[in-house]
Amino acid sequence: MNVMLLGSGGREHALAWALAKSPQMDKLYIAPGNGGTAAVGENVAGLDANNGAAVLAFAQEHSVDLVVIGPEAPLVAGVADGLRAAGIAVFGPSAQGAQLEGSKDFSKQFMDRHSIPTAAYATFEACEPALEYVRDQGAPIVIKADGLAAGKGVVVAETLQQAEDAVCACFEGAFGEAGNRVVVEECMTGPECSLLAFVTAGRAFCMTTAQDHKRAYDGDKGPNTGGMGVYSPVPIVTEEELAAMTAIMETAAAATASEFDMDYRGCLYGGFMLTPAGPKIVEFNARFGDPETQVVLPRLKSDLLQVMLACAEGRADDVSLEWDDASWAVSVVLASAGYPGSYEKGKVITGIEDAEALDGVTVFHAGTKVDEAGSLLTNGGRVLNVTALGPTFEAARDQAYAACQRIDFEGKQFRTDIGAKALRGRSAWD
Ligand code: AMP
Ligand code: GLY
Repeated sequence: MNVMLLGSGGREHALAWALAKSPQMDKLYIAPGNGGTAAVGENVAGLDANNGAAVLAFAQEHSVDLVVIGPEAPLVAGVADGLRAAGIAVFGPSAQGAQLEGSKDFSKQFMDRHSIPTAAYATFEACEPALEYVRDQGAPIVIKADGLAAGKGVVVAETLQQAEDAVCACFEGAFGEAGNRVVVEECMTGPECSLLAFVTAGRAFCMTTAQDHKRAYDGDKGPNTGGMGVYSPVPIVTEEELAAMTAIMETAAAATASEFDMDYRGCLYGGFMLTPAGPKIVEFNARFGDPETQVVLPRLKSDLLQVMLACAEGRADDVSLEWDDASWAVSVVLASAGYPGSYEKGKVITGIEDAEALDGVTVFHAGTKVDEAGSLLTNGGRVLNVTALGPTFEAARDQAYAACQRIDFEGKQFRTDIGAKALRGRSAWD
């Protein structure tokens, strides 16, 4: 089979790496890809993944049998719809389905209609009523731009002043059109946990739990990032909680089939908060998590290509998942100096081979590229996801950090406490 994967992050390298293991794989194109994906397939550097017509033309010219869409932007732009209309199998929901991520108000209404536990909320299209509501509710309170804002559109306001400032910033255009509507939410408490599911024909096939580390520095300090490290499974989740989370994902998947035009065939990402009243949804995403994918897929024993093709073709009965339950996975992000603020690119990366010589270690590339001379260079804020499998949580973590020491580039920075909180147990969140 010929497969085309859209995207260029660490998530896409992990997807490409897992897809390439399938005996059914003939040719894998990654558009635009990165320095890591070039080693498992062919990068299509000049192609704009958000341009549905260009993606379709490439897929037709190269006899692509399946298109896998990594990031949210092409999904929201309807790239899956155009491909499906032309008869090409796609792993990724329709534009309507992607609204679960593309509009927080749409997502909240969806959850309300289907009794999915989530924070209480109200949506506003003008500043003054939103400010009145915020003053009435008091802090802490959460302010969210309705549309896609690259993970930056959410403010968890500790004080009323912060909340009012966030509301004003949204309506003044801090997030462009994404902030024309503002969702104000009750502030929930508890550890966060991601549960991803393969969804097709109204059914959910849950993957294993994972936990991201969003803050830039040790001790969950500093600004939010795209994720600085992750592990799977999440040991602090109780069996009861996992059962509740699985049931929520199944309810959501069934709802996608009962909702007009959603045609959800792809990954549904459940971002949960384990509140004292049970797990509740913080957000749905219409795609695989980044960096969650980098620890979930190494533990998947099933053939990812077959699973994705079955989802894309609506063959739910053919989806079955087998996991490596004997292993833990930990991934540490190596980032450029200055990230998540401004940073330099083009630094030479060394030591990846040495790192991968360690047992159980795989290095997924995020912001990297290979230059004309064949050197591997940094090309983004988050550069590498250094991932290790081990027989225990501690073994996986120690191996990931041993691998981090073997890799070098100017300005390399990383958190030294990925997984530390989970190892202290649930009380670490009190
Ligand atoms: P989102 O983009 O909706 O996932 O929000 C980004 C982050 O903001 C989440 O991962 C949470 O840490 C936090 N957050 C969002 N909504 C809430 C909420 N209602 N209560 C507490 N924290 C929240
Ligand atoms: N890890 C957070 C996300 O993928 O949205």
